Amino acid sequence: MAMIELQGIDIKVEAMQLSDISEVMEIEHTAFPLPWPAHAYRYELMENDHSFYFVARFLRPPAAEGKAGLRAYLRRSIAAKKPFPIVGYGGFWMMYDEAHISTLAVRPEWRHRGIGELLLLFMLERALEMKAQIATLEVRVSNKAAQALYHKYQFKEVGLRHRYYSDNGEDAILMSVEHLRSPAYREFLKQHESAIRARLLSSLRPGRALEVDSR
Ligand SMILES: CC(C)(COP(=O)(O)OP(=O)(O)OC[C@H]1O[C@@H](n2cnc3c(N)ncnc32)[C@H](O)[C@@H]1OP(=O)(O)O)[C@@H](O)C(=O)NCCC(=O)NCCS
Repeated sequence: MAMIELQGIDIKVEAMQLSDISEVMEIEHTAFPLPWPAHAYRYELMENDHSFYFVARFLRPPAAEGKAGLRAYLRRSIAAKKPFPIVGYGGFWMMYDEAHISTLAVRPEWRHRGIGELLLLFMLERALEMKAQIATLEVRVSNKAAQALYHKYQFKEVGLRHRYYSDNGEDAILMSVEHLRSPAYREFLKQHESAIRARLLSSLRPGRALEVDSR
């Protein structure tokens, strides 16, 4: 299974395992008004041959986060009883030539560092390896942060699903990229991969003090 390790940043994206689900659930409850239950993730990992789920984790505390970051990291490690806590995750379903991104989330205190983008980029590259031609997803009308991320990766609004979300009857915007396999889009992804590596390096490398969100 595909895995990416960013040397010098010590962050790894790898296939989600059953043993990751309790940590994923913790993030899920902070990230979504309608969290999936744990059994939905178990189903995705065990039963659904068309689903691909990934987690991002630091392999050691990112030095740039300073003492506050180290404390946050250690808190997570201890709570999760794991040395390398999960900071984000994402997944997609592969249906013929369509990759449908089903979820993407980053732990609140590690947002705005490029981790969401890293996960999205990673999923789009995996989808391309599986010969996807088109990537689709649904996003809440109110979720401007996620929409900005998807626009950055050339997703366009192609439809609206009325009252899609049962908690508040909010509409979902259906977004897609329909030219995943074009040479131009592959080149675009390559350039963004370099850019995201540079961004993660500069935001997480030693000597750059960053505030850790207190949420
Ligand atoms: C959406 C989410 C995954 C983004 O993760 P993140 O690690 O904070 O995002 P990144 O730091 O990688 O940001 C990448 C791009 O996303 C967009 N973005 C992220 N947060 C944003 C915000 N608060 N406001 C506007 N744009 C934002 C920007 O385009 C940003 O690129 P830029 O920094 O060059 O402007 C994260 O906010 C999250 O987990 N939200 C809750 C769950 C969710 O809504 N998931 C999406 C379901 S469809």
